[in-house]
Amino acid sequence: TNKISSAMIRKQAESEWSYVILNEVDSTNNYAKKLVVNGERKNTVVIAETQTLGRGRVGRPFYSPEGSGLYMSILIYPTLNVEYAPLITSFTAVAVAKAIEKLTDYNALKIKWVNDLYMNHKKICGILTEAGFDFEGGAIDYAVIGIGINVLGLDFPEEIKDIATSIEKETGKALSRNEIASEILNHLSNLSESIKDRSFLDDYRERSNVIGKNILVIYGDEKFHAKAVGIDENAALVVETERGIRTLNSGEVSIKI
Ligand code: BTN
Repeated sequence: TNKISSAMIRKQAESEWSYVILNEVDSTNNYAKKLVVNGERKNTVVIAETQTLGRGRVGRPFYSPEGSGLYMSILIYPTLNVEYAPLITSFTAVAVAKAIEKLTDYNALKIKWVNDLYMNHKKICGILTEAGFDFEGGAIDYAVIGIGINVLGLDFPEEIKDIATSIEKETGKALSRNEIASEILNHLSNLSESIKDRSFLDDYRERSNVIGKNILVIYGDEKFHAKAVGIDENAALVVETERGIRTLNSGEVSIKI
């Protein structure tokens, strides 16, 4: 059970997917984007045992050692207008949170805006979504949703050991990565419809660890203190500053609680 297996994932997945399981790859997101370039139009799940160049947001690396994490990219062709693109990541954050909660009974999982999942104030999961657009039609052509979850044991390198942890460390449960994968896929199967409906945003807000907190915002060249007051209908973070209310979109900001 400690190996990624498409047969195991497929057995529990409720919808049809193509699977690519790799021992090693630079980044599963890169691999999935190559499938798009090659004209592969099928919904595909790419998982690797280890990544040599796992990527996080804003150019950061994602630590991806062999055998202990779930490094997965989900290639989909949603039927969504571009305006919904920012919601894909927050929808996925809720999907992953629910999957982990179901398999562990851990009920204090937090989402740090935009897309990081936390257990006991340490990060267990990051999400990096990359999308392509059909400019003429104003629609999303494809989305590659990259999910990295620290599942088992793990000794983290010095520079992240105070901020990162694994599900096993925090809950004592050594989950099957295959089971987590199928559970996530089941939560993502109705993505386009659920995103349009936006009701998942309440599930997101319930788990937010920033709402109500004083935070430090780094926004391009600007750096300012603010109070996070909410998450709006586009999953943007609404903050109160000395000069009034501001709405922060993902991708452009980094926050410290
Ligand atoms: C972050 O923490 O900023 C996002 C991390 C995203 C990591 C996942 S692992 C699978 C996929 N492939 C990548 O190179 N990145 C994502």
